[in-house]
Amino acid sequence: MSDGKRLAVLGAGAVGSSVVDLAAEYGHEVVAFADSSSAVVDADGIDAAATLERKQSAGTVGDDDPDAALEADYDVLVEATPTTLGDAEPGFSHLEAALERDRHVVLANKGPVAERYGDVRALERESAGEVRFEATVGGAIPIISTVEDLSPSHVTAARGVLNGTANFILSRMAAEGIDYEHVLAEAQDLGVAEADPTFDVEGTDAALKCVILANVLSEGEREFTLSDADVEGITNVPGSALELAAEDGRTIRLVGEATREGIRVGPRLVPQNAALAVTGTRNIAQLETTNAGQLNLSGRGAGGPETASAVLGDVGRLD
Ligand code: HSE
Repeated sequence: MSDGKRLAVLGAGAVGSSVVDLAAEYGHEVVAFADSSSAVVDADGIDAAATLERKQSAGTVGDDDPDAALEADYDVLVEATPTTLGDAEPGFSHLEAALERDRHVVLANKGPVAERYGDVRALERESAGEVRFEATVGGAIPIISTVEDLSPSHVTAARGVLNGTANFILSRMAAEGIDYEHVLAEAQDLGVAEADPTFDVEGTDAALKCVILANVLSEGEREFTLSDADVEGITNVPGSALELAAEDGRTIRLVGEATREGIRVGPRLVPQNAALAVTGTRNIAQLETTNAGQLNLSGRGAGGPETASAVLGDVGRLD
């Protein structure tokens, strides 16, 4: 276990806020915290409870400019700003600024490792800092560290149900016979689905996770981005398809698959009693290995504390 680290946390959504809330429990100290319009910096450690309370009541985390958090004296930058596609900004520049100062980076933001993996690894090679990103795939589930433990060259494929929102919708459609639009509205009411669930229901979020897994499996031999993925979401899955599948003891799940050859995401028929037929917001990853058969890892694939536990697990893996 590593010594306690000084963290700078960028992003005050569910994941960034939970990292701030839980850091002390894992033996670390938050010395800077920023949202999109403000920051709080304290070399002796910020008051996490007061800061999170302020965020709730006033909408800001502090009185400083957000850039102050990047300039603070930290050991690890936790990048938990929203995932963006293409140039993956501003997350990529945040990572670059930390590595140029020889600091470590732990990502919850998928953008840099899904869209600019080669650039991230090139910057890392020039730095004394390390980049880790367990939280980008499958929330609480230790998928990337398991691939590392097995060694990526001994994992031939990673497949799974990697989007909780889409899985919640398909499970409810199958269980209740309700159509897509009604279940989506229910998921939004329950806070399972984002106000804008486009990334989830169109398969983009699952595809980004599979792109990251393909990059890990490829170990730099080949770089993947979202444009390499063959993606279909769940918006066109009719309730009647789930009913027909059920007559045959099957159901439909949004399944993603990553190999060193490519990435595919789409609705697939799976037996109702198969490991892949997880229900609700659960995720599952199946790793196909050369010597150890198939490994199934299942658990909570989203949520603030769940994803923060993956971030803090990564922090604990750093020297
Ligand atoms: N919105 C995602 C999900 C979690 O529903 O699984 C973040 O990747």
